[in-house]
Amino acid sequence: MQTVHTIAHLRTAVDQWRGRRERVALVPTMGNLHDGHLQLVKRACGVADKVVVSIFVNPTQFGPQEDFAAYPRTLKRDSFILAEQGAHLLFAPDVEELYPYGSEDTVRVEVPGLSAILCGVSRPGHFTGVATVVAKLFNAVRPHVAVFGEKDYQQLLVVRRLVADLCMAVEIIGEPTLRESDGLAMSSRNGYLSAAERERAPVLYQTLQWLAERLVSGMNYEGLAAEGVNILRESGFHPDYVAIRRAEDLQAPQAADSRLIIMAAAWLGKTRLIDNLPVTLKDPP
Ligand code: PAJ
Repeated sequence: MQTVHTIAHLRTAVDQWRGRRERVALVPTMGNLHDGHLQLVKRACGVADKVVVSIFVNPTQFGPQEDFAAYPRTLKRDSFILAEQGAHLLFAPDVEELYPYGSEDTVRVEVPGLSAILCGVSRPGHFTGVATVVAKLFNAVRPHVAVFGEKDYQQLLVVRRLVADLCMAVEIIGEPTLRESDGLAMSSRNGYLSAAERERAPVLYQTLQWLAERLVSGMNYEGLAAEGVNILRESGFHPDYVAIRRAEDLQAPQAADSRLIIMAAAWLGKTRLIDNLPVTLKDPP
């Protein structure tokens, strides 16, 4: 596996592949890789001839009080496991390479509507930072296809919207969430949890499952979501939100909608955890 830190070196490699008509996949990450990330890399290897993985802790998607400085950076270890996984190129730029005019004064890509709800309420500017860096990565790498995790479901929809609205020629693949054996969604931020918090953390996913079992078409979804908030509070979480939405666009479900998604974000101590569970309602008998 080749490792490059500049867009110029990246282009030399990708141009060669494209010249040979090879299909190029991109898996964007912020590093500190776990098996959830590696599942995306596996999927990318299955749909393309060459797989680029980017590792970049993107300053513009972190709020001023968030964990940009503390975010775990483990490039050596990451590069070793990516090579083992069969990735062809690791792109690990520094901030100046992706933000030549500085990350404050950068051109920004705004995805209205979708960016302002759910996680966007407590993380203003977050999805603009994500859309901006993903647009930069797509322009730098020029992949035919890019793989994202459903773990960050709102992010996946923001990226799909970005690509559709800016007419980008990149196919977006969403990959299901990989979980620990006790149900906790894998995340780089799980490492922040204390031993006691880690033991309690699976309650987040259990709450989503509890809600999914009670979901009936056309019911009072907000009332049910409020019960989820209570369960999380009683288990020691500080919930940001629990919401039952239409999977397609995260709007409030209408009676005829059957593809829903239960989404939750909650603090456990100093760690903000997010998770979601897609549910397809059966037609009434
Ligand atoms: P990061 O949190 O490193 O995640 C990189 C990719 O891995 C994302 O598409 C995310 O949804 C996926 N992922 C994380 N945990 C997963 C799990 N348990 N199962 C399946 N997929 C999982 O998301 C970002 O980085 C950044 O916002 C980024 C898109 C790279 C832009 O900076």
